[in-house]
Amino acid sequence: MATITFKDDVTGKAVQMPVLEPTHGQSVVDIGKLAKEFGYFTYDPGFMSTASCQSTITYLDGDKGELLYRGYPIEQLAEQCNFLEVCYLLLYGDLPNPEKKKIFEESIIRHDRITEGLRRFFQGFNYDAHPMAMMTAAVSSLSAFYHDRLNIRDYEHRMVTARRLIAKMPTIAAACYKHSIGDPAVYPRDDLSYTGNLLYMMFSRPGKRYEVNPVAERALDVLFTLHADHEQNASTSTVRLAGSSGCNPYAAIAAGIACLWGPAHGGANEAVLRMLDQIGDVKNVDAFMAKVKDKNSGVRLMGFGHRVYKNFDPRARIIKDICHQVLDSFGHDPRLELAMRLEEIALSDSYFIERKLYPNVDFYSGIIYSALKIPVEMFTVMFAIARTSGWISHWMEMVSEPDMKIGRPRQLYVGPVQRNVITLAQRT
Ligand code: CMC
Repeated sequence: MATITFKDDVTGKAVQMPVLEPTHGQSVVDIGKLAKEFGYFTYDPGFMSTASCQSTITYLDGDKGELLYRGYPIEQLAEQCNFLEVCYLLLYGDLPNPEKKKIFEESIIRHDRITEGLRRFFQGFNYDAHPMAMMTAAVSSLSAFYHDRLNIRDYEHRMVTARRLIAKMPTIAAACYKHSIGDPAVYPRDDLSYTGNLLYMMFSRPGKRYEVNPVAERALDVLFTLHADHEQNASTSTVRLAGSSGCNPYAAIAAGIACLWGPAHGGANEAVLRMLDQIGDVKNVDAFMAKVKDKNSGVRLMGFGHRVYKNFDPRARIIKDICHQVLDSFGHDPRLELAMRLEEIALSDSYFIERKLYPNVDFYSGIIYSALKIPVEMFTVMFAIARTSGWISHWMEMVSEPDMKIGRPRQLYVGPVQRNVITLAQRT
C-alpha cells in the first residue's frame, strides 16, 4: 500500500499515512492517525480536500464531466431506464430485472398514500407557507405516523422505510401544492406512473377529467433521474451527519430537505427563474452580466458553476435537450432565449472561462418546470422528491456499516482565551 509521510518540522517526528485507492478517481490519504500521532487536526473549510466517507453509490469526475450511478453513466440511465428503476439501482446496487422491477413498482404503489392524520397536518399551515417549509415539516412528521419500522439495525425495517419515503414524496409534494392554492389534496391512483401520478395529484381538479401528458410525464421522469443522487453534496452529507447520531431516517431526510432549500444548492433552480424574470429581456443581459462580474455587487449568475464540475455538468446537457423537447410541445418561453443568450455570453467570457464556470443542472430545469405549469416555489420540492432516493441510499449505506461512528468534526478555535466572569454590576 502506498503511503504519504507527514513530517512535523518542529519536532522532526514523521508518520506514514496510508493512501487508499478508489475504483475510480482520486486517491485518498487516510489521516485518521494524525491527531493521535501529532496532536494536530486538519483544517478544510467547505471540505475542499476532504473525503468524508467511503461509498459505492455514485461517482463523479468534475474534470471529465462524468457522472455514474453504481457504475452506470447518467446518459444511459436517462435514456434507457425510468426513475423507479434508478431508485432501485441506488437502493439495491444493480438494475432490476423485469420481475424485480414489477415487485418494486407494486411496493411503491402500496406505500404511496399518506394517512388522513398527515393529510390534516397541512391544514395547520398558513395558505402562503413556502412548500419547502411544509415539506420539511411533513417529512419530519412521518416518524410520528409510521413508527412501526424504525429499528435502524434491521435491514427489512430500513428497506420498508426507504420504499415508504420514495413512495410518499410525490403525495406530500402535491399536498403542499394543493394547500398553497386552497384545493383539497388528491389521492394517488394505482394505474399511473410515478411522475404521471405526481402530475395528476398536482393538477387534477375536483369534478374535472385529467389526462396525463406523456411528454410532461417523461420529461419529469428524466429530470428525477438526473437529480436522484450526486455523491457527498451538502444535503446528502447533512443526511449522513444527522443520521450518524442514530436518529430515525425520516428526521435525517428532513434535515437533508432543509439543507437542499438553500440557493447555493437545490434552491438554485428557483433562483434561476427569478433571475431570468428580473432580467426580463435580452437587451438587459449585458448590464446584468456586468453586475455578475463586479465583485462588489454580490450578484451571481444562478445556475452556473459547481464545486466539482469544472468542465461541464453532464446533467445540464441532457436537460438542455429536454428543455427544447418540452417547449416544442408546450409552447415557446422567452426565458429560454434569455437563458441561451446568458449561456452564450458566459461560455465565451474570460471571467467564466478562467473560473471554469459552466451551466449546471439547474440552469435549464426551471424553464422545463415552468413550461409544465409547476410554480417556482415548487421547483426545489421537485428536486427533493428525486433526491430522496439518493439520500435514503446513502443513509442505508452508512447505517449498514458495522463500525458506523457519529460524525463529530473538530474546529480551529479562534474565540476569546479563558477569562473570568465579573459581577453584573461591574460589567460596562
Ligand atoms: N456567478 C458568478 N461568479 C461565480 C459563480 C456564479 N454563479 N460561481 C462561482 N463564481 C466565482 C466566485 O465569485 C469565485 O470568484 P473569485 O475566485 O474571483 O473569488 C469563483 O467563481 C469560485 O467560486 P466559489 O464560490 O469559491 O466556488 P464554490 O465551488 O464554493 O461554489 C457554487 C460552487 C455552485 C456554490 C457556486 O458556483 C454558485 O454559487 N453558483 C450559483 C448557484 C447555483 O447555481 N447552485 C447550484 C449548484 S448545482 C445543483 C446543486 O448542487 O444543488
